[in-house]
Amino acid sequence: REKIVKVEGGYHGHHDEVMVSMKPPLHLAGSADAPNSVPASAGISSSVVKNTIVIPYNDAAALERALSSREVACFIVEPVMENIGICLPQDGYLQQVREITQRYGTLLVFDEVKTGITAGWGGASGFIGVQPDLVALAKSIGGGLPLGAFGGKQEYMDLITEGKVVHLGTYNGNPLCMAAALAVLRDICTPEMTQITIARNSMLVNAVEGIITEASLPAHVVQFGAKGCVTWAPEQIRNYRDYKATDFDLAFAQWIHGINRGVMLPPGLDEQWLISIMHTDADALHYADVFQEFVDELLA
Ligand SMILES: Cc1ncc(COP(=O)(O)O)c(C=O)c1O
Repeated sequence: REKIVKVEGGYHGHHDEVMVSMKPPLHLAGSADAPNSVPASAGISSSVVKNTIVIPYNDAAALERALSSREVACFIVEPVMENIGICLPQDGYLQQVREITQRYGTLLVFDEVKTGITAGWGGASGFIGVQPDLVALAKSIGGGLPLGAFGGKQEYMDLITEGKVVHLGTYNGNPLCMAAALAVLRDICTPEMTQITIARNSMLVNAVEGIITEASLPAHVVQFGAKGCVTWAPEQIRNYRDYKATDFDLAFAQWIHGINRGVMLPPGLDEQWLISIMHTDADALHYADVFQEFVDELLA
């Protein structure tokens, strides 16, 4: 099978097959139901673009249409999209995804690079209760050291251990990074500490939600595990097109206001905050204090 499926607006790193429709300009993106495959960079061959089918997130029917030819090797997706703020799966979506991929013999790959242990010690897949065939992890599990990892069901990982699928790299299994991951997963981000951190984040999320409600803002707050974000739209977003319809002027104003007051989020207007186990209650609530100040200035 030569083809893969990914969702529009999904980011999975710098690898040609997935650098398609990462954040396509809407004038190139085609219809919302059956989006075009738009290369995100020069240098991606047309055959790669042709073999990457793009579908909307939270649309099980679109997945079924894409897989029905039985030419699709895998569906790669973040269980919770975290490069367009935080876009949650609707009830039952990932369960349907699991069932459909299984039915068409297509592997389900969860990209948990951003969710991972920030979603809870069992990751998003453990939290939601849907098991992929393969999983990619990175970022939080390295505790700040550069690290990526992947794993999956034995029948697929055996292809590597038996040498049928070649997996080589200068830094594969780098001892320093492996030691860091072990320390993070065994000693630091224990299941208990992870839960405490998520509870601390819930406190922040509630505070921000209170500010939004009090001021009747056209915004809402989204939480997933230890992460959260303010999305400048009255309703929860379901996919990339909804994200594109959010208010980027207000998002930018809030971002630059925060940057000047110690809330250092990246500049893409597509990120979320993360409460790490190093943050205290006061650190977490600093975000809410700065947000309150922003809202006061906005309404003044
Ligand atoms: C969801 C997701 N997948 C994959 C990647 C790629 O990770 P790396 O930059 O470590 O290759 C990223 C990076 O931001 C990401 O957000």
